[in-house]
Order: sequence, then C-alpha cells, then structure tokens
Amino acid sequence: MFYDAHKRDHGFKVDPLKSLIVPRPIGWISTVDPEGRVNLAPYSFYNAVAEFPPIVYFSTTGTYGDTATKHSRMNAESTGEFVVNMVSESLKERMNITTAMFAYGIDEMKEAGLTPAPCRYVKPPRVAESPMALECRYWKTIELPIEPGNEKNAGSMVFGQVVGVHIDESILKNGRVDVAAFKPVARLGYSEYTTTDNVWAMRRPDDPRYQ
Ligand SMILES: Cc1cc2nc3c(=O)[nH]c(=O)nc-3n(C[C@H](O)[C@H](O)[C@H](O)COP(=O)(O)O)c2cc1C
Repeated sequence: MFYDAHKRDHGFKVDPLKSLIVPRPIGWISTVDPEGRVNLAPYSFYNAVAEFPPIVYFSTTGTYGDTATKHSRMNAESTGEFVVNMVSESLKERMNITTAMFAYGIDEMKEAGLTPAPCRYVKPPRVAESPMALECRYWKTIELPIEPGNEKNAGSMVFGQVVGVHIDESILKNGRVDVAAFKPVARLGYSEYTTTDNVWAMRRPDDPRYQ
C-alpha cells in the first residue's frame, strides 16, 4: 500500500506513522520551574544528535493542559536546564503515571512514588531509581512547521548539551554499560512498548574502536 502523508488517506482508524518509526527511546525529562517545583514527563520524540559536544533533544507536540506549551519545555527554557532519566523495565508503570496531565507545578516524581536525587551541575533532581541520568544545559528550541488546521498540535524541538552523566554501578560490567542489566524500555506505535533484552554485536570493518 501507499498513502499520502499530508492527506493521511491510509484508511486506518489510527495513523500508522508512529508505528513505523520504532523503537523510539524514551527521554524521561525532569525539570524545575522558576519556583523550584519539580516536573517529570516522558518523551519518545527524543534522541542524541551529536557527541562533540554531546547534544540531545526532546520534542513536544502541542499541549493538552493548562499552559501554552508542555511544562518540560517551559521549564527548560525558563531555567536553562533539564535532566534526561532512563526508563528501565522496572520503572515502566511509574513512567506511565508521569505522563498524566497534571496541573503546572504538580510534582510527578512524587505522584509516581519516585525518589529525587541531587544533580551535580543543574538544579532539577534526577530520578534516583533510574540507572542513568544526563544533566543537560538548555541550548535552543526549534519551532517545527505548523500544519494548517492542526495549529494546536504544533511541534518543537528542545535541545540541550549534556554536561554530566550518572551511571548506576549495577549496570556496569568490565568497563562497559551492560544493557541486559537494566532493559531500557522503548516506545512503539499505538499503546505498545518494547524492552531491549536481545543484544547482539556486529563489528564495523573500518573502525578500530569497536574491535
Ligand atoms: C512513552 C511516552 C512517550 C511520549 N512522548 C511524547 C513526545 O515525544 N512528545 C510529546 O509532546 N508528548 C509525549 N508524550 C506525552 C507527554 O508525556 C505528556 O503530554 C505529558 O503530560 C507532558 O508533560 P509536561 O507538560 O509536564 O512536559 C509521551 C507519553 C508517553 C507515555
């Protein structure tokens, strides 16, 4: 089959596009507002885009609450900081609680029964239960093109530079991160998720770093 992405004439009840760009890592973004109130929310339009310096982004789609854009973006922009926490399999239900549309200023970390742990270089706390956290300094926001008739769902990309990295000792083995030890959760389409528990290696012929 083929469908026109603009007309969305696929004939299905649910647009299949997000089911085709999978699996997507989940950035579990913790921020504070200018009053220091904690916010935590998952974003699967998230990834690393550069290494030197390390840059990550999360991308917001519209809003559905009490503010003009999503709280994570507002806080990252107003305070200049955010933290990306890793969702391991054991945290999946608690991650799901933090996606709910809480009013601005409500602490989702507390609502989900998670423990705040201090960061070194930035004010937002990281999730203590998470096996990995990236402390980020906000860089810039890119407003994405607006689709006529869908203005409320306009997107934006919020970029940050990683300035500090926390790794729980339990996921380190012989100087390497052992993915099998924490099973990162990734987003598929619809309400589906997957867990990374099938790891295999394939060496690049031209890169001695990975031999
Ligand atoms: C696994 C998962 C991934 C999500 N990814 C995104 C995303 O990439 N962009 C987005 O705008 N919302 C995403 N959401 C919805 C947000 O988590 C939700 O709108 C949340 O309330 C935003 O919180 P905030 O306003 O405190 O930032 C996702 C939800 C879940 C459960």
